[in-house]
Amino acid sequence: MDLFKAIYERTSIRSFKSNLIPEEDLMKILDCAIQAPSAGNLQPWEFIIVKNEETKKKLADAAYGQDFISEAPIVVIVCANKRISSSRYGDRGESLYCIQDTAAATYGLILAAYALGYGACWIGAFNEKKVSQVLNIPEHIRPVAIIPIGIPAEKPLKPGRIPLSRKIHLEKY
Ligand SMILES: Cc1cc2nc3c(=O)[nH]c(=O)nc-3n(C[C@H](O)[C@H](O)[C@H](O)COP(=O)(O)O)c2cc1C
Repeated sequence: MDLFKAIYERTSIRSFKSNLIPEEDLMKILDCAIQAPSAGNLQPWEFIIVKNEETKKKLADAAYGQDFISEAPIVVIVCANKRISSSRYGDRGESLYCIQDTAAATYGLILAAYALGYGACWIGAFNEKKVSQVLNIPEHIRPVAIIPIGIPAEKPLKPGRIPLSRKIHLEKY
């Protein structure tokens, strides 16, 4: 699929069919995610793949009852390895770069899922402690985004964008 088409047509999907995602497609999606740029090319991202129904329900609970998470056949938790980034870049690595790197990977993941005919939603509202408990995530790994992926069971209208002209500053802020 054309990159521009994917960028313009993608919307967040919050309702999924139960069809499974072939492993090959999932690997392609994750392989696109890791093509993202990262500070110093440190690639501090890590992905937890969840298919287990009970675990998906626990994640939905940890995300303040966003139950559509457990509808998706696959839920990917995109994590940032703080230790990798802080070892070279100190506080800025830990508090900023590893989050930026992981966010860039997350967008690549979501766009790739769309280009392959799947829907996804970036979930940022969740209790980090609970998610870490449910998934046995160690302290130096920060769960940054929960991404349910599946065949869309809805075709939402694309939410509007604030006009570009209001977001551009010429020469100075
Ligand atoms: C950092 C971040 C956190 C988000 N958290 C949630 C969330 O917890 N639940 C949800 O349903 N959507 C969440 N979204 C999706 C946004 O609501 C969505 O991207 C936005 O409304 C624009 O819609 P679109 O993705 O369809 O273009 C999040 C998106 C981002 C980037």
